[in-house]
Amino acid sequence: MSSSSSIESILTENRSFPPPAEFSKDARVKTLIDYESLYARAERDPEGFWAEVASDLQWATPWKHVLQGAFPTDARSPGVTWFAGGTLNASVSCVDRHAQSWRKNKAAIIFEGEPGDTSVITYGQLHREVCKAANALTALGIKAGEFVAIYMPMVPEAAIAMLACARIGAPHTVVFGGFSAEALGDRIRDCGAKAVITADGGWRRGQILPLKDNVDKAVEGTTVEHVVVLERCSNPIAWHGRDKWWHEVVDSASSKHEPKAFDSEHALFSLYTSGTTGKPKGILHTTGGYLTTTAYTTKMVFDLRDEDVFWCTADIGWVTGHSYVVYGPLANGATVLMYEGAPNQPGPDRFWDIIAKWGVTVFYTAPTAIRAFMKWGDEHPARHDLSSLRLLGSVGEPINPEAWMWYRKQIGGDRCPIVDTWWQTETGSIMISPLPGATPTKPGSATRPLPGIDVDVVTKDGVSVGANQGGFLVIKRPWPSMLRTIWGDHERYVQTYFSEVTGCYFAGDGARKDADGYFWIMGRVDDVINVAGHRLSTMEIESALVSHPKVAEAAVVGRPDELKGQAIVAFVTPRSGMVADDALAKELREHVATQIGALARPEEIRFAEALPKTRSGKIMRRLLREVASGSAARGDTTTLEDQGVLEKLAQSYAQEE
Ligand code: WTA
Repeated sequence: MSSSSSIESILTENRSFPPPAEFSKDARVKTLIDYESLYARAERDPEGFWAEVASDLQWATPWKHVLQGAFPTDARSPGVTWFAGGTLNASVSCVDRHAQSWRKNKAAIIFEGEPGDTSVITYGQLHREVCKAANALTALGIKAGEFVAIYMPMVPEAAIAMLACARIGAPHTVVFGGFSAEALGDRIRDCGAKAVITADGGWRRGQILPLKDNVDKAVEGTTVEHVVVLERCSNPIAWHGRDKWWHEVVDSASSKHEPKAFDSEHALFSLYTSGTTGKPKGILHTTGGYLTTTAYTTKMVFDLRDEDVFWCTADIGWVTGHSYVVYGPLANGATVLMYEGAPNQPGPDRFWDIIAKWGVTVFYTAPTAIRAFMKWGDEHPARHDLSSLRLLGSVGEPINPEAWMWYRKQIGGDRCPIVDTWWQTETGSIMISPLPGATPTKPGSATRPLPGIDVDVVTKDGVSVGANQGGFLVIKRPWPSMLRTIWGDHERYVQTYFSEVTGCYFAGDGARKDADGYFWIMGRVDDVINVAGHRLSTMEIESALVSHPKVAEAAVVGRPDELKGQAIVAFVTPRSGMVADDALAKELREHVATQIGALARPEEIRFAEALPKTRSGKIMRRLLREVASGSAARGDTTTLEDQGVLEKLAQSYAQEE
């Protein structure tokens, strides 16, 4: 960021935008005072508050207890349960009850494929498709409690597959199509998936993602018995005894399916995300609590109404796709838009074309995308009629004030409020966000916690810090959509989230709260980096690098990047005798892409004879971060074992310049 734009950001930081009167007039929550009284009500009686919210879902049997237990304190403590004793079927709340109402012929999913093919699926049709897919999975022998992996493009069948799994009580684990065969295999092995639902391919920038080929590699030697394949691109694929075409098993299945009700704490899905070790964590979410808070936050944050066309651009492989493409909007009977491909295919105005064509009213995307749109030029949105939009959202990474202002003006026509929503895979749904009709917004701030959510900025000892002081972002009270465990590793769960700050859930983010109680998220304080809104662990990339035979040691850091937020820089010490040249750098970048996925491919590889280490042998990442971002190492280097290492690294930088 140039210095003039940082000055600008300081100036805009102090600006506040009241909700437009036009918007507030019909909003669910119309004034700041109403928000505050709702918040206070939830604080006085959190259980009463959440019970009222949960009653919006369709329960088969009522719960006996709203909340039981507390944040776990050691690996033996079971943690919390929400709505224990209650039973429900998530797909009934998302589909059946709408299919049986006036919404039967309302669009549930509007789909546009990258090549331009489109389809509209009503709630009545969605119901039939979900029932058929549920029957097909049952016929394959999939039972409640058995994991199914989903590795699909952004097509309606991906949502149908998720809902069908939920319907038969088989927890799904969706793996983003950009992950490699290796990464998919690791996830399949970790949860012991019995089946994989995939497609022959998916369209991305005019190319075909070889999804089925990756599945073939990934399932070797795993527990997978069946692979169900949707025909999407008709690309040639290999065929094995375990493979079945979606159109053969699903289309021929009965469209009648009697849903069973499952316990509120029945596992709904696990979703793998990066943490501070080399191994991704299977974040486990359960049914009643997850659905309660996703449905509630969709309704409140997006001020959802029946006429909306709601477009969340996230892939279903990420939590945002789970909560705000599938479960949250569908639980509310909303119309969602799904688009398969890249934002610049065939041209940089594809998104604006889609908004104008379908009359999208609520648009929810990531800051990285917004910064790319800014770079591509104002003329692209300007060419399209975006007047259907009434609300904009941002998620996944801190949004810089410049991007916020651009979004407001160029996309929102200075008319639409912006909701900057902070949350995580672990929280299941949005925790901090403006309510668009009530909360004045400040560019770059996620503003204030939602009613029912108790967040704070604290020191390591759990003491609240003063206004505008940095600290750790924590959540102080259990909430229904919180993660219940890390699949297969409850100890890591307790250790990661509940041991860092006494008595609180520790989010891994640094933040400050300003004098108005507004939260400003400062980014991760652990070894997780956020590249283009995708969470990656530096350790995971390091493990991938050292698995290469020519690498002795590697350290990965994030450096600030104008477009992607952060870019991956890898410092690599080759094994002796290996030539550190461009060819090796290229080989290593590809190696990481094969091990994890293209999203983890380092932007830059820097060869170093040695890495800076403390006397106890720990790599000093802070110094590497400073070297990578071009600033001379400023911090304390007294624990550095070999001062010469740093000089050499800095010199290598100077030479490159
Ligand atoms: C970051 C995505 C600033 C944060 C929903 C968090 C944000 C991580 C915001 C979770 C935001 C998410 N402002 N930072 N509005 N939203 N983050 O699990 O560092 O993929 O811890 O969930 O993204 O990423 P995850």
